[in-house]
Amino acid sequence: MDRRKLILNGAQLGAGLVMAPLLTVATVMAQSPSSPKKDSAMTPAQRSAGRRSRIFITGSSDGLGHAAARTLLGGGHEVVVHVRSQARLPAVSGLVEQGAIATIGDLSHLEQTRDLARQVNAIGPMDAVIHNAGILSGPEVLVVNVVAPYLLTALIRRPRRLIYLSSSMHKGGRATLDGIDWSGRTGTAGYSESKLFITTLAAAVARLWPDVYSNAVDPGWVPTKMGGANAPDDLRLGHLTQEWLATSNDPRALTSGGYWYHQRLQEPHAVVRNTQFQNRLLSELARVTGTRLG
Ligand SMILES: NC(=O)c1ccc[n+]([C@@H]2O[C@H](COP(=O)([O-])OP(=O)(O)OC[C@H]3O[C@@H](n4cnc5c(N)ncnc54)[C@H](OP(=O)(O)O)[C@@H]3O)[C@@H](O)[C@H]2O)c1
Repeated sequence: MDRRKLILNGAQLGAGLVMAPLLTVATVMAQSPSSPKKDSAMTPAQRSAGRRSRIFITGSSDGLGHAAARTLLGGGHEVVVHVRSQARLPAVSGLVEQGAIATIGDLSHLEQTRDLARQVNAIGPMDAVIHNAGILSGPEVLVVNVVAPYLLTALIRRPRRLIYLSSSMHKGGRATLDGIDWSGRTGTAGYSESKLFITTLAAAVARLWPDVYSNAVDPGWVPTKMGGANAPDDLRLGHLTQEWLATSNDPRALTSGGYWYHQRLQEPHAVVRNTQFQNRLLSELARVTGTRLG
């Protein structure tokens, strides 16, 4: 990628890159020296045919997102990482030193999420997007865990593969969209509902976009900031499935509409496959964001 072009794009992009002059420098410095122009010109299909992939991971400052970014970089892939603010950039400095490109945006603010999508599109087409960022509680749980990944799905140039972080806790979510406040001002739903909705979104995208592999992943209860130090499941397995779905040419990874746990298909909550529920969720998300899924 051309240095001047990126800085120029940054100046036009709004909050994320403009507020982060250091980021543009870090981003440019982080570009792989090996024929980056040729790579940018590569189509997603070419990249996924045995060549390295370009993967965008939300919430890569910590936990599973950070671990997935590190593993994918180690595997020779091009990784676009994401932090909530300029102050969180140091959390990805090691990844940037390894070649990652950094983006910024607080997913609890719709305008910052829109700006994040612009930053990602300015980098070029992604082969895969891992919608990983998430929070466990608070009124913003629906905004961060559901509205933001919906908006990014609608606004980022369509990749070949989409992966959404779910949780086994989605099975305890109330399967209703009545009375939901999507704004983050009042807590009308909790973590379980947010994961039920994101799992439903993954299935809806799989149905509506046959040219995309869209899947949801339960990473297990693993020891991260969210999972806590005593979480019993295996941390490595907690990010392996996302990496595999994002890059592997294993025929099982080239499928859509699945709900996965440690590379095994599981049956999600029954409402996830209910097309009426899917459509109602999509129309609610289009209403609150003013953006329809293309
Ligand atoms: N850990 C588990 O046991 C477990 C189980 C089931 C599902 N999951 C799911 O797996 C995903 C990753 O979880 P994790 O355990 O890795 O969590 P984590 O360690 O708490 O990391 C969450 C990531 O999301 C980012 N994030 C949170 N709110 C954000 C916002 N408003 N804007 C931008 N970024 C934001 C965090 O940024 P900061 O570092 O700045 O906070 C961090 O990078 C989540 O979707 C979670 O629901 C986890």
